[in-house]
Amino acid sequence: MNVLVIGNGGREHAILLALRKSKRVEKLYCMKGNAGTAQIAENVDVDYMDIAAVKAYVTAHPEIDYFVIGADDPLAIGLVDELEAMGKRCFGPRKNAAVIEASKAFAKELMKKYKIPTAESQTFDDYGKALEYVRAKGAPIVLKADGLALGKGVLVCDTLEQAEEGLKEIMLEKTFGSAGAKVVIEECMRGLKYTPGEEVSVLAFTDGKTIVPMITACDHKRVNDGDTGPNTGGMGTFSPCPFWTEKLEKQVMKKIMIPTMKAMNAEGRTFKGCLYFGLMRTDKGMRVVEYNSRFGDPETQVILPMLKTDLLDVFEAVTEERLSDVKIEWEDGACVCVVLASGGYPLSYAKGKKITVGNLGDVSLVHAGTAVKNGNLVTAGGRVMGVVAKGKDIEEARGKAYAAVDNIDWENKYYRKDIGIKYREG
Ligand code: AMP
Ligand code: GLY
Repeated sequence: MNVLVIGNGGREHAILLALRKSKRVEKLYCMKGNAGTAQIAENVDVDYMDIAAVKAYVTAHPEIDYFVIGADDPLAIGLVDELEAMGKRCFGPRKNAAVIEASKAFAKELMKKYKIPTAESQTFDDYGKALEYVRAKGAPIVLKADGLALGKGVLVCDTLEQAEEGLKEIMLEKTFGSAGAKVVIEECMRGLKYTPGEEVSVLAFTDGKTIVPMITACDHKRVNDGDTGPNTGGMGTFSPCPFWTEKLEKQVMKKIMIPTMKAMNAEGRTFKGCLYFGLMRTDKGMRVVEYNSRFGDPETQVILPMLKTDLLDVFEAVTEERLSDVKIEWEDGACVCVVLASGGYPLSYAKGKKITVGNLGDVSLVHAGTAVKNGNLVTAGGRVMGVVAKGKDIEEARGKAYAAVDNIDWENKYYRKDIGIKYREG
């Protein structure tokens, strides 16, 4: 089969690396891709947010059998619906289901209606009323722009001053554009033990009838060591989550994952694809922080390398609503991804810096913001690449990853030194 993956980032490179292992895959394509995806797939230079352009490309390439939508934006504008209307088979939710990520207000209403545990919240489109609510609740408090904002539309405010300032930025100055037309104001949840940051990402395959969690991962979202500094798209990940147990998984399946799948069905919004549960272990039990309608980035980089089952088999089973027939198996051990970023990210940073790669040892490089210019590998984004290593445990995997990090270089390379040691006890 010929498969096209849509997106540019590390997630898409990781999906392609997993698909490449499938015996049934003949040729891979990536729209638009990066320098890494170009090594294993044909990069397609079409803007995937331009639906007419995508349709024209798809019509001209009937040899492509299957489409995997990696990125969130094209899901939110209904790319799956458009491709299905052309008779194409896809992995990814339709527009009416992708709203679970595209609107935080929708997600909160869903959880409220179906009693899925999450932080208490209210949604506002009126600045005056929002301000009144913030003042009544006091700090700490969390503000979230309703729409998609590249993972940056969430402000965790420790003081009332920060909250008032943040509300102004989102609703009046429109820092996140139209994503901030509505704002969700939320209770600040507290971690159970290692406050702050007892979070776990649980990604699940679902066809609307069955939901199957993958192995767990933890993401370091803050830019600096010790989980400090502004939020980013993710500075590194490790799998599995150290506090995850079978018992916890059973509880989460019963109270969160199955109820979410059923809730979407009951709303006439059956979700088919990868449903991502951002969860926090709090003093009130496991609660939902956010939903995403697609694979996480950089979680995918540490999850898919551990998958033993053919990924294309799983994708097609989801499309054909026979996921219950597939046995999904994972390797034992652990996996760590250290993200190498451009100095200055997530604010301003340079692009076009020449990348040199030396001896890597037993790791793989998953590209994100990379390109080839005049025959040279260069930086082309904030998060440039992930160094992914497996080991018998997280310690071994992180040791291998960091050993390789020193052999990859460009001017002003930046990375966190503490990926994978977030939850060490004591
Ligand atoms: P999100 O983009 O929704 O994942 O939020 C980004 C980060 O903000 C999360 O990973 C949490 O660390 C933090 N966060 C979001 N909502 C809350 C909340 N209600 N209480 C505490 N922290 C939160
Ligand atoms: N790593 C968080 C996300 O993909 O949204």
